[in-house]
Amino acid sequence: MKHKIFAANWKMYKSPADTQKFFQNFLVIPGDSTLIFFPPALCVNHAIEATSSTHIKIGVQNIAATAEGAFTGENSASVAKEMGCQYALIGHSERRSLFQETDAMLNQKAKLAQSLDLHIVFCVGESLDQRKSNQTKSIISEQLSAGLAGLKNENLILAYEPVWAIGTGITASPQQAEQTQKEIIEWLNANGFSGVPVLYGGSVKPENAKELISQPSISGFLVGGASLNPESFAQICQA
Ligand code: PGA
Repeated sequence: MKHKIFAANWKMYKSPADTQKFFQNFLVIPGDSTLIFFPPALCVNHAIEATSSTHIKIGVQNIAATAEGAFTGENSASVAKEMGCQYALIGHSERRSLFQETDAMLNQKAKLAQSLDLHIVFCVGESLDQRKSNQTKSIISEQLSAGLAGLKNENLILAYEPVWAIGTGITASPQQAEQTQKEIIEWLNANGFSGVPVLYGGSVKPENAKELISQPSISGFLVGGASLNPESFAQICQA
């Protein structure tokens, strides 16, 4: 069986108290799947404490593109690392669209993360208009070639998240997801990134997890909404 990776993106939900409560109720499944949580930055410390005796890994949802400096409000990657984070989420569509993060900026962030030995979950995905006009493959290739330029293939995980499926309740069908995931893997293999796992994200829930995870090109999930509840996220991880 393929090694599976389940990542939870809590976005700007949950307080320190909620974080502690979540981990009291989240039953870590024994087994060798990788479990990663991206809590809000202000709860990272609490998440690290609450999971210290488990194999759960904690990451930051965003890092600044430079190591330090006069960037009020930004998260420093090296501070995240010092706190005990092992992962950084880079290129999420909300960062791309709401915070105007460009491919070049994301590439800089990814390089900084790798220089600090932080693992990366790098997200790509097309909008609904781009899918409708048959641009999915070209848009994703552009995001990959600009975003991953100069990166090493170690400590790297890709996440395919069709923008139209994020937080909308509309999931890509297993066939739609599989086709794009396969194209991403082909691109990775052709560009020196073979072996990099590719997760699917976008309205993953306990009800659709089983069928999606059985697709050969899906190595795991990046889950938003359904990861906020310990029972539903545990069900997804057991799918
Ligand atoms: P969703 O979010 O599962 O709520 O669609 C996924 C994500 O934003 O990573």
